[in-house]
Amino acid sequence: MTETTAVDGMITGPIGLALVVAGEREGIHGHEHWRRVGENAIDLAHEEGVSCHVALLFAILHDCRRENDGHDPGHGPRAAELAESLGHEALGITPDELRTLTYAMHHHDRGQVTDDPLVGVCWDSDRLDLIRVGTRPDPALLSTTSGRDPVRIALCSDHRAGAPTWERLVKRLADPGRLTMDEQIRRFDANPRFTRAKPESDAVTVTPRRARARVAG
Ligand SMILES: [Fe+2]
Ligand SMILES: [Fe+2]
Repeated sequence: MTETTAVDGMITGPIGLALVVAGEREGIHGHEHWRRVGENAIDLAHEEGVSCHVALLFAILHDCRRENDGHDPGHGPRAAELAESLGHEALGITPDELRTLTYAMHHHDRGQVTDDPLVGVCWDSDRLDLIRVGTRPDPALLSTTSGRDPVRIALCSDHRAGAPTWERLVKRLADPGRLTMDEQIRRFDANPRFTRAKPESDAVTVTPRRARARVAG
């Protein structure tokens, strides 16, 4: 299996293949959403002890067969069929991982929760980006302990730092190294871009520090 690499913006290997077959897409279900889901996926997979690689494949492929940005119940099954047609070897995963990935994609928009840690990481990564459509993620609809953390929900619900690049996400596959939640909150507080900016909507007025204080209180 060819390893995924990212050099000068050129991504090769299974992740490069997934990006090619996923194609271009803009809007609320496009690349910016996929990259934020990818960041969430790597964070959650790292914390839950499941494969960051499979979780990143989910981020890239789960919405790539949408036919519109509205009601499209067939887009999960179509994404699952696409992954099956590529096969586990091309995607750099085991047959079992492919089964889990296709299950996660097939059912990702049904509002379910799960005990399966890898499926949970995939679904939570997507739902933690709901703020882009003005919806604050509901902890009752998140499957993993890491995903339900109110500080994480607050961090994921502030998009002012922008979405990561694909190159950065691929590099994180080799070394997920991530700031701790406390470090992220300190960086959030110290960044004048964040503290001066007006919240985009009521949905983002719960800052990470306030969320942490609520938990502590
Ligand atoms: Fe979707
Ligand atoms: Fe999505």
